[in-house]
This record gives sequence, structure tokens and C-alpha cells, in this order.
Amino acid sequence: MKRVTIRVPATTANLGPGFDAFGCALSLYTDVTFEETEYGLEITGCDEEFAGPDNLAYTSYCAVLASLSEEIKGVKIHIESQIPICRGLGSSAALLVAGAMGANVLRGNKMSTQGLLNITNAMEGHPDNLAPAFFGGLTASMVDNGLPVTVNFPLHPEWQFLALVPDFTLPTHIAREALPAQYIRADAVYNLSHGAMVLKALELGDEKLLRTAMQDRIHQPYRKSMIADYDQIEGLIRTSGAAFCLSGAGPTLLCITRDPGLKDRLMKRLPAVTTQQWEVLPLHVEFQGACILDAE
Ligand code: HSE
Repeated sequence: MKRVTIRVPATTANLGPGFDAFGCALSLYTDVTFEETEYGLEITGCDEEFAGPDNLAYTSYCAVLASLSEEIKGVKIHIESQIPICRGLGSSAALLVAGAMGANVLRGNKMSTQGLLNITNAMEGHPDNLAPAFFGGLTASMVDNGLPVTVNFPLHPEWQFLALVPDFTLPTHIAREALPAQYIRADAVYNLSHGAMVLKALELGDEKLLRTAMQDRIHQPYRKSMIADYDQIEGLIRTSGAAFCLSGAGPTLLCITRDPGLKDRLMKRLPAVTTQQWEVLPLHVEFQGACILDAE
């Protein structure tokens, strides 16, 4: 095989209290085509600043080939992405997953998906976006002895995810620098107990339980000051009866609801309480993880 296109879904990580552990695949996609050549690197479909050898699709492509002890020849990479960059919807994880899977497919699928997750997790540092990007659906992951272990959880079919995406970015490394190095026991207990309830509420479709459970003391309180309009939007969503959380490290905010009319009501009310431009994207859970879209 000379050429392959890999499709990877967007992902939302943390889901409130599940910091660095919970994630869910959503219905926006990055498609990346890899075509082996004799020599050199050509990357198209992204901004010039991302078209060099530190492009994440290329770095994970090389990492998988190195791990397979395969020769790294030339490659043309073309990226078509619907996932907003640097907004907390897994655009970086999607590139890492595409690169890892692209290399593996082109060289005869010698590595398992778990092997690809191990490699990309070592690159990203946490598996919460990577796991749902590889496996689809709702996932919880732990890292034990340096290796990620992931399980899928069931989800009630009526949930709608409304991603509120602002016109500004927040790089993940800056959002992580805002977090304390240590936490008090009460905050650890708060997140553990709320996290367990989030998974059950998502399974049952229990909006009231989800609204209560989807609160956090590990990351959101330290990040919200970096996100204009955070408190106003949280207030709007929570008083509507829906669940609210930061998507990944932000700045996208997430509303999870079973109310089909909520999107229109939110869009009507947002301008009155916000100072920035917010786009509301209605998304559904994507149960299929990364897959081959085309190959020849
Ligand atoms: N769990 C990560 C964080 C997700 O909140 O920093 C962003 O990659």
C-alpha cells in the first residue's frame, strides 16, 4: 500500500471531574492522507507554521516507524480538519492518532491499537483525548506502570453535546501551567466521587445527576479566569437544567443536555451575557474511533 487516508474524531477530555482520565469522541473529524515517497517531507492543508517536521501527524508517524524498526522514507501528508485548533476539542490528539495509524497501516498493520496508544500517550503525556480518538465513544483511562489502560462506558442515546467554541485560543501547556502541583484530600475525594457519578449519569441519561456530578475542583477553578465569559456561560447553562464543563483544557465550553430545544434558546440568550464571539456546535457522540477512510 502506498497511500492511506485516516479519519479521526474530535474528542472532549476531562468531562468535569475526570481530569486526564475521561474522554468522549464527538462528531467533528480530521482526515489525514499519507503517501510514501522516496525522499523528503511535504505537508499541505495546514498553516505554514505547522507544515514542518514537528507537525504532530509526522512526529507520531516517525515514532511508530522507529518503534517497528522500519526505514523512514519520504512522505506527503495532507490534512483536512474540521476540528478547531487549540480550542480543547482534541485537534492535537487527532493528528497524533492519524500519524500513528497511518504509519502502521502503510507498513502492514504490525502493531495493535493498544501499541499505538502506548506510543502516542508517551508523546502527549495523558491518554484522555487519545483513547476516545482511537476507540470512539466514552472512555476512562488510567496510566499504570507508564502504560495506558482504557475502558469504554455505555452512554444513553439521547445526549446532545453543545460545544461553545470561542474566537480565541488557549494553548494546553498554558492551561496546565495554571494548575497547582498538589491538592488537599477533600478536593481529591470530591473529584473521585463526582467522577464516578458522571459515568453513571451519562449511562442512565440522568440530566439532574449529571448536572450535580459534573463539577470539579482539580482544574476548572484554576482555568476559568483565562476564559472570558466563563461564569456567565456556566450560569446560563446550569440554570437551563443542563450539565456544564470545560472541554479539555479549554477554552471551548461544553453543555450536555437531552433537551432538543436548548441549542436555539442558548444561541438567543448568549449575546446578552457574553463579551466574545461564541459559536455553538451541536455534536453527537461518535462511537467509531479512528478508521481508514481510503487506501490504495
Ligand atoms: N486533560 C488535559 C488537560 C486535556 O485538561 O490539560 C487537554 O489535553
